[in-house]
Amino acid sequence: MLIAIDGPAASGKGTLGRLIAAHYGLAHLDTGKLYRAVARDVVAIGAAPADTEAAFAAAKALDLATLDDPALMDGKLGEAASLVASYPEVRDALLAYQRAFARRSTGAVLDGRDIGTVICPDADVKLFVTASADMRAARRYRELRQAGHNITEADVLADIRRRDHRDKNRAAAPLRQAKDAYLLDTTNLDIDAASKAAIALIDAAMGRAGQAG
Ligand code: C5P
Repeated sequence: MLIAIDGPAASGKGTLGRLIAAHYGLAHLDTGKLYRAVARDVVAIGAAPADTEAAFAAAKALDLATLDDPALMDGKLGEAASLVASYPEVRDALLAYQRAFARRSTGAVLDGRDIGTVICPDADVKLFVTASADMRAARRYRELRQAGHNITEADVLADIRRRDHRDKNRAAAPLRQAKDAYLLDTTNLDIDAASKAAIALIDAAMGRAGQAG
């Protein structure tokens, strides 16, 4: 069973991906971490995220054992990640790993921006998870404040809008809903309701409608 989840920044797709994977006993890959890790490694050598050669080299040399680094979730890395993610060479360098992850025999959930369109066009079920920019900013702001970050909600909203714009308008694998993806708008859903809605969609799509659990 292969599930593809895409959506804009802070739409809740990562949390949903984790919950869906746990529900069905599947492996989960948050592909945003790949781009965040490349951005981290570019910044760590003192290069700018706009340095395409440094980004390509970092993508090719990426140590996949470092994807659990908590520093990846730092707010500033989101912006740098969206820059390095706009380079086709960087995306190509990360493609094989994502496809291999998707092919594992135990099944997988991958979430990102181009999973249903480019990485796993043959996924069994595709979800496109979204929410209004204001709601996404409010949720991310709450998370960042709880994690001790000193940031304003206006800054979070500006970052989300900037990243949405870049991710949707880049030439390489832009963020868009695959034609065969189900739209899940979580603006008025908490995470519990969103995960129930996602599981209901997946069960129905897999022909399991009405089954418990
Ligand atoms: O999902 P997350 O916010 O962690 O992703 C960080 C950035 O990585 C996104 O803004 C996007 O530019 C990029 N990304 C991507 N393709 C993916 C996952 C993330 O371009 N499949």
